[in-house]
Amino acid sequence: MPLTTAAPSLAEEVRADFPILNQDVNGKPLLYFDSAASSHKPMAVLEALQRYYLTDHSNVHRGAHTLSGRATDAYEAAREKVTAFVNAASFKEIVFTRNATEAINLVAYSWGMTELKAGDEIILTTMEHHSNLVPWHIVAERTGAVLKHVRVTAEGEFDLDHYRELLSEKTKLVSVVHVSNTLGTITPAKEVAELAHQQGSKVLLDACQSVPHMPIDVQDLDCDWLVASGHKMCGPTGIGFLYGKLDLLRSMPPFLGGGSMIQDVFLDHSTYADLPERFEAGTPAIAEAIALGAAIDYLNKIGMDRIHAYEQEMTAYLFEKLNAIEGLTIYGPQPKADGSGRASLAAFTVKGLHPNDLATILDQSGIAIRTGHHCTQPLHRELGISGTARASLYIYNTREEIDTFVAELKGTIEFFRNLMD
Ligand code: ALA
Repeated sequence: MPLTTAAPSLAEEVRADFPILNQDVNGKPLLYFDSAASSHKPMAVLEALQRYYLTDHSNVHRGAHTLSGRATDAYEAAREKVTAFVNAASFKEIVFTRNATEAINLVAYSWGMTELKAGDEIILTTMEHHSNLVPWHIVAERTGAVLKHVRVTAEGEFDLDHYRELLSEKTKLVSVVHVSNTLGTITPAKEVAELAHQQGSKVLLDACQSVPHMPIDVQDLDCDWLVASGHKMCGPTGIGFLYGKLDLLRSMPPFLGGGSMIQDVFLDHSTYADLPERFEAGTPAIAEAIALGAAIDYLNKIGMDRIHAYEQEMTAYLFEKLNAIEGLTIYGPQPKADGSGRASLAAFTVKGLHPNDLATILDQSGIAIRTGHHCTQPLHRELGISGTARASLYIYNTREEIDTFVAELKGTIEFFRNLMD
């Protein structure tokens, strides 16, 4: 009889691509559960960075020489990859930025400061990352626009009824997180955009925690802008992007002034380049953009549907294990039985224990989780807590790692409980 062997899991297939994971930390094999903060990079991305600097480096869009041509081609090819990855209609709709924070600030300063006036309303949610709160605080302070916040339901979901109540003809912008980095909540983005557009409002999606984990189609979502960071999707730090609908981006004044973003410069005024250069002043993060392109190739090779399905499987397993720990509270929605309905992360507290103490002890066992307010201080305040411990998974994490994590977590909880008895 032929022997049947189980197909290797996605993590088993890709694990060797991430050499950083193959190390001991504090004498134990590294167990990295902090990919929502920043993911690791496969060899293909590290090699793309090195190859670029070894053979092609030069400034882009400037020189007539061969290296400049190669660097420009590679940089623009990376833009094409981002364009296809999120299904934008044109490469002109993709602007490279340092990160998602800069992309939101670009919209806030360029569009927000010019289009918004006193009494206009901006709808955010209580679960926004600081990067989608603070820029709008600054805009509201300067323009007199009014901020409104959609609540999260008791189950940790985006409160659509409350959103409908807040929407009105005064709403000029709805800027919301697609997937919460703390609650793991998935915002019903398509419905949010449809309702906003019925009121004539623009919609910005903070997709930092969705783009790395699920297929994204900006045309289907019909958002006006979407932002993401490269370093959470297997790319390097220092690179992110802004997607914007072509006509809208065209209508926006420049954000930063300088080289590359101009058509003609006179002593007393300038005219500006077409998209996307108009928003890319100065020498861009060339190597990082090219390496982001390599990260996209890598993710595409696996397939975003497969990545999403694997993460759901892992979410179901993680929650099954964590739900069984007495005194542990997970914030945000529970997954469905198949692991769908939320992101592959769990922010939690354990009764009587400080999250920092938990994380510090787990680090002694080589386990990397994040603690604190995860840049969602207002949400933590709403929840009546100062911080949570957060375990977040990605393609390279295994069931065995979840078993180890849960066993170490239980041991740590017991250790502290014995100390307190
Ligand atoms: N926003 C990142 C996180 O959630 C840094 O950890």
